Amino acid sequence: MAEKITLSVIKADVGGFVGHSSVHPALLARAASCMAQAKENGLLVDAHVTHVGDDINLVMTHRRGVDDDSIHKLSWDTFVSCTEEARRLKLYGAGQDLLADAFSGNVKGMGPGVAEMEFAERTSEPVIVFMADKTSPGAWNLPLYKIFADPFNTAGLVIDPRVHAGFRFEVLDLRDHKRIIFNCPEELYDMLVFIGAPGRYCIRTIWARESGMIAAASSTQRLSHIAGKYVGKDDPVLIVRCQSGLPAVGEVLEPFSRPHLVAGWMRGSHHGPLMPCSVEGATPSRFDGPPRVVGLGFQLAQGKLIGPQDFFADVAFDRARQLANEVADYLRSMGPFEPHRLPLEDMEYTTLPEVTKRLAGRFEDVK
Ligand code: F6R
Ligand code: MG
Ligand code: MG
Repeated sequence: MAEKITLSVIKADVGGFVGHSSVHPALLARAASCMAQAKENGLLVDAHVTHVGDDINLVMTHRRGVDDDSIHKLSWDTFVSCTEEARRLKLYGAGQDLLADAFSGNVKGMGPGVAEMEFAERTSEPVIVFMADKTSPGAWNLPLYKIFADPFNTAGLVIDPRVHAGFRFEVLDLRDHKRIIFNCPEELYDMLVFIGAPGRYCIRTIWARESGMIAAASSTQRLSHIAGKYVGKDDPVLIVRCQSGLPAVGEVLEPFSRPHLVAGWMRGSHHGPLMPCSVEGATPSRFDGPPRVVGLGFQLAQGKLIGPQDFFADVAFDRARQLANEVADYLRSMGPFEPHRLPLEDMEYTTLPEVTKRLAGRFEDVK
């Protein structure tokens, strides 16, 4: 059997340029040089450094499996090095997502977001890496449901014998730290009870039932859950393998043609449309948004990352961007009212305890 390859996507916001809108080229250059060194010394097979909004994304291939100490340490050290550069340029929120003083074996729980999968590279191995800014991990629930469970999105579920058997979904309960696996299509209705609440339940892994192949892996870290208070958003990443018994590239991209509402946007406290855009267009501006998603395609060749193909640069997604702008206009007109603003308990910034305390004496009992 072919030697397995691991695809690791690890991301962090270690300083924004300007505000929380983008990453300064000097940080991307610093990250690229760390990656080049790791390729030279044999730790990595290949790497691609990119960004969405204010998050640096390291797309790495290697032969060390998921949750590997040295790959996680390399990512941590890369973000620490980028932070030095961010401090020098006085970029905004330098070191924001590095929650610990020192690396402790795995970046999970330390701030950065991680999506990883290990597999035997197929004869041809197309993968798409999705990266979002100004939102949180539950943002992938709706598109993953459409890609792997909705026959109106994915024709292959109906007409491709290798896809017809359906998929297994691993769903995480982020509050009680539990997981459950659903076999779809027969358990679709049960699964939707949970994944329709993306603030608490997130799809982490998907496998094809026919072949057992891993098909998708997402990041599910929530910084606010890690730190117990607001420390920035948990802008998520997602890896999806495509074709030959899995959804086609176009089926994987299709859900993003209709921007869905996600939690995040300004101060991590508002609902907004997830706007698909190119890497170049991934600079959230209006009201610090709207939330963005970038989709980069690669062909793997003995672990080499052939690409990327910047899918949402395509004119076919112009209408999605236009719709996202219209939805943004509409929602913004609601100002501080729900459901544009998140419910009190989900907001990442709040003055509620302080205002409640100050006004406590003025609340009178009502008969
Ligand atoms: C949301 C985000 C921004 C900031 C906002 C205020 O994820 O990053 O919307 O929350 O710009 O930032 P501070 O509190 O740093 O002034
Ligand atoms: Mg930021
Ligand atoms: Mg961000």
